[in-house]
Amino acid sequence: MRKEELKKAKLLLEHDELVAIPTETVYGLAANAYSDNAINKIYALKNRPASNPLIVHISNASKLENIAQNIPEVAFKLVEKYWPGPITLVLEKQEHISSLITAGLNSVAVRVPNHSLTLELLNSVNFPLVAPSANRSNHISPTHPEHVKLSFGYKAPFILNGGQCAKGIESTIIGFEDSVPKIYRQGAIGQDEIEEFLRLKVISTSSNQPIVAPGMSHKHYSPNTDFILSDNIELAAKKFEGKNIGLLLAQPHKTIEANFPHKILSRNGSLNEMMNNLYSYMYALDQLNLDIIIAEKVVNDGVGIAINDKLARASNQQY
Ligand code: TXA
Ligand code: MG
Repeated sequence: MRKEELKKAKLLLEHDELVAIPTETVYGLAANAYSDNAINKIYALKNRPASNPLIVHISNASKLENIAQNIPEVAFKLVEKYWPGPITLVLEKQEHISSLITAGLNSVAVRVPNHSLTLELLNSVNFPLVAPSANRSNHISPTHPEHVKLSFGYKAPFILNGGQCAKGIESTIIGFEDSVPKIYRQGAIGQDEIEEFLRLKVISTSSNQPIVAPGMSHKHYSPNTDFILSDNIELAAKKFEGKNIGLLLAQPHKTIEANFPHKILSRNGSLNEMMNNLYSYMYALDQLNLDIIIAEKVVNDGVGIAINDKLARASNQQY
């Protein structure tokens, strides 16, 4: 079964077709990184603006210098510690990397994903894979094969089924300015952890700063239902009384839970569990034909910062 699925995925990719691949973060929509024809299909299927560059996925760190050059020492430190894993590095690109991947930038984003099926697939083909998250542009990122189907409908590509993603939110993206690490996107590894490991403060871009990386556009990850972010869930529920409300709760709230369909990100305050459930629960609530989803901010600490960032980008209002 596993063998046949892998063979099918390999053949499709070798014929410039797209395949949805499991990673530890979210499902990716993969194509041959050395074929512009294949890469164009990603932008078309996702309806992704050509100005939003893609991440190159490689099978192991020894391939890094095929993709990037003039790599700062601190980047190698991160590679050694976190790959395979949910850190993406933005580095000076090698000449031959297609400008379709980088949206014309001189830099390229690259990572080694940590999922056995996808690593096996990467080892079986003789090219790296570009893979944005396997959802329509601006829709919720998929952490399960069903989500890929929900996002693309009948246009869904072949999905290599690797089950539920272990982390549940995207990789943390780190670039370098004069060798100083800078976080371009909060993700599955918290900034605090990275700072502790490197023993230095890293700069981070926040959502009210101008957009540095094209993919930092403010609206992102959105359900189809109106999505409101709040730090006082009781008050927000009262304000929208009369509407068909669903709640995405950070923690249990006995009194209002009883009155609305809801999902609880974690019953015991575990940020890892919250990260794990975030997109799944967004998809689930989005299926309920609600007028409005009210989401509760989580503790703004560790990966909680990334979770709040995703919630903010999903929302069209804060209350
Ligand atoms: O966890 C992940 O990173 C997942 C899995 C599938 O690997 N992929 C993912 O890809 O989240 P995507 O395309 O949804 O997000 C890629 C982000 C975008 O925000 C894009 O702007 C940024 O990476 N990016 C890519 N190349 C860049 C570059 N050269 N400079 C700055 N940002 C870049
Ligand atoms: Mg994405």
